[in-house]
Amino acid sequence: DVTGLVDQFGREARDLRVSITEKCSLRCTYCMPEEGLPAIARNDLLTAVEIGRLVGIAVRDLGVRDVRFTGGEPLMRNDLVEIIARSAEVADGASISMTTNGIGLDKRVDALVAAGLNRVNISLDTVDRDHYARLTRRDRLPAVFAGIKGAQAAGLTPLKINAVLMRDTLAGAVDLLEWSIANGVRLRFIEQMPLDADEAWARDNMIDAAELLAVLGERFFLSQPHREDPSAPAEEWIVDGGAGTVGIIASVTRSFCSACDRTRLTAEGTVRSCLFGDDETDLRGLMRGGADDHTIADWWRAAMWGKQAGHGMERADFVRPTRSMGAIGG
Ligand code: GTP
Ligand code: 5AD
Ligand code: SF4
Repeated sequence: DVTGLVDQFGREARDLRVSITEKCSLRCTYCMPEEGLPAIARNDLLTAVEIGRLVGIAVRDLGVRDVRFTGGEPLMRNDLVEIIARSAEVADGASISMTTNGIGLDKRVDALVAAGLNRVNISLDTVDRDHYARLTRRDRLPAVFAGIKGAQAAGLTPLKINAVLMRDTLAGAVDLLEWSIANGVRLRFIEQMPLDADEAWARDNMIDAAELLAVLGERFFLSQPHREDPSAPAEEWIVDGGAGTVGIIASVTRSFCSACDRTRLTAEGTVRSCLFGDDETDLRGLMRGGADDHTIADWWRAAMWGKQAGHGMERADFVRPTRSMGAIGG
């Protein structure tokens, strides 16, 4: 008997995002500081066994239908295949996906698919090598292309590309969309949120959906958006009458918080009910203290009940969360 993760505003979380590491092979300026995030002590990280157990509770007792692994960069975990395998074992039909920067994916993708991975979203902000090196502080674009090819060859479709909107991304937006259509991937642009470790985000510098649409509209014919799933953050547009699609995740200017269906686990095993909510509930401590599955499920429900209404960015008294994106997991 499943009692789901409902909150006081009547939303129900069916989408679980699990951050599994703070480490990353890149240093995207909108996410990580130059030096990387402070390392999590080994003993503080959830193990593959613990992750599998929590995924099982989420699916079996709490009604979760989609499980997504994020980081940092999930490929930084040596035991990623085991994490996927243990999760797939208990997934009971829930989808298992991952958001990754794609670096090194080609070398591990067959093992990941064999373990039960269903889908990947790959972060790629520009197809210009110099811009890419500047944005990510690493000259790794060819490795990302190899990762994308590898994922496609392994049958991981639809493959979505995430591009966070910045000045440089906007300048390369037309090229990135042309490249995406030519390569059969589904591009989505994302409004940058104030989750950069450097705390450089400012509303006035943020490129918004309207500005992007104006730039794309000069080169492409974009037709009426059609939203199938109200909890899906991306609004989809059809490009040139069907040559491809482009999505826009307007988290800031068109917040989708009222339809949010997410619950999150940090790499240290705390439940986070919202990207922007600093209140966390420690499931790792409960688990290591010997709690049974029902007790853990109850604490998880209690954590989600208190989920805040929204990110609150439109409010004058908005304060950013303590954790940056790389420490929450997108
Ligand atoms: P799909 O199932 O493929 O649609 O994945 P997804 O879009 O849920 O996951 P992905 O990891 O690719 O996230 C894409 C972007 O959505 C992230 O980069 C975030 O900017 C944004 N995002 C994800 N979760 C949330 C959330 O809970 N709140 C807000 N405001 N934005 C989010
Ligand atoms: N705002 C919006 N999206 C971000 N991401 C990382 N930092 C930010 C931010 N400040 C995206 C990455 C990745 C996903 C997990 O989160 O591009 O695709
Ligand atoms: Fe790494 Fe992703 Fe953050 Fe870029 S956005 S630094 S790829 S975790």
